Amino acid sequence: MTAQSETPALKAAPMQNFEFYNPTRIIFGENTIPKLAEQVPATARVLILFGGASAERNGTLPAVREALDGRFTREFGGIEANPTFETLMKAVELIRNEKLDFLLAVGGGSVIDGTKFVAAAVDFEGDPWSILTTHGANVKAAMPLGTVLTLPATGSEMNSFSVITRQATREKLAFGSPHVFPRFSVLDPTRTYSLPVRQIANGVVDSFVHIMEQYLTYPADGLAQDRFAEGLLLSLIEIGPKVVSEPENYTLRANFMWIATLALNGIIGVGMPQDWSTHSIGHELTARYDIDHARTLAIVLPSMLRVRKEAKRGKLLQYAARVWNLHNGTEDEQIEAAIVRTEKFFESLEIPTRLSAYEIGKDGIDPLLAQLEAHGMTALGEQSEVTLDVSRRVLQLSL
Ligand code: NZQ
Ligand code: ZN
Repeated sequence: MTAQSETPALKAAPMQNFEFYNPTRIIFGENTIPKLAEQVPATARVLILFGGASAERNGTLPAVREALDGRFTREFGGIEANPTFETLMKAVELIRNEKLDFLLAVGGGSVIDGTKFVAAAVDFEGDPWSILTTHGANVKAAMPLGTVLTLPATGSEMNSFSVITRQATREKLAFGSPHVFPRFSVLDPTRTYSLPVRQIANGVVDSFVHIMEQYLTYPADGLAQDRFAEGLLLSLIEIGPKVVSEPENYTLRANFMWIATLALNGIIGVGMPQDWSTHSIGHELTARYDIDHARTLAIVLPSMLRVRKEAKRGKLLQYAARVWNLHNGTEDEQIEAAIVRTEKFFESLEIPTRLSAYEIGKDGIDPLLAQLEAHGMTALGEQSEVTLDVSRRVLQLSL
């Protein structure tokens, strides 16, 4: 045990001052893609960005082309899951050469994140990779962008964050800037019907952990934020297994799509302490071992909660009682039962919660710690107490 991990739970802290700003217009519902015609300026020179073959195959790209009929458009495909700097810089070049002035992302979090980076990089003076190393602090402007979402998971459609991978150095870093909020996002739940089970399960777990990173810290007098977070968690637990097994159930897909957006559009986290250490460690796991983003979170979160049980005790008990209805036994028993339920929920979606499921043994931990150190991730979490030593214990517990 290190001194840091024995930090006692904070009893309660007052809600912090905050500013809330979110300018993204949401256009939600079946058959809403034609509304692009109202949102994209008539004279715009548009670049449509997408990933692999899915958007063409499921009819989304054809519907987008039809909605933009009459406008000047170019297309840029091939943005990878975990979008790479190398690929995105080719889009930047195309935009400069063709003097394009509006970006439309059609896809999941990777395409949207990639489009945000492109928007910030086009007129950026200096090395565009520094957008990532400064986490967006040096972004002073960006091209306007809109999105058509095909995968509910990241919340990228209504936030100002982006996560980019540099292939050459195997680094995965995040940036945020108010300049890259989408102007609008079209959310048509029927566009998710073609998602493979694995991606929809990933989306459930990713959005679940987004809520946990903003909720499971220490009590901070945010009554609405807490109840809002608990409502979203309960909704995900209720619909998670069904949304995976009933691909064409509109009600389920519509609810899931909106929950995933609400999980990370800023509203539940205002004025509250936030953690994000599970995400930081998870990004290193993806960069090094190519594990899907959501799967890295399922590996890290349960161990993080166990290792930081003392600092998180108050909220863990609240989570056990309000989300899992656990009221009996000692405090420690209630907390452990809530963590076990969380793991079982992830496993029920066929998302493994152990490193061994990816054939990563104890030798795999040191390289991850070296990456965390190289990226300055040495004091993570709501109380900056997730040192490299704490991260090591979390990863060891996840073996
Ligand atoms: O490439 P295509 O052929 O389009 O296939 C994609 C991709 O392979 C497929 N897909 C998407 N929509 C589909 C579909 N297949 C069939 N039907 C559809 N309707 O799904 C695969 C995965 O897509 P991806 O966009 O990579 O998934 P996701 O939305 O989970 O995004 C993950 C990325 O977002 C980052 C992650 O780190 C990762 O790089 N995150 C972004 C955040 C943000 N901007 O706020 C926060 C998150 O915590 C996360 O870090
Ligand atoms: Zn995430």
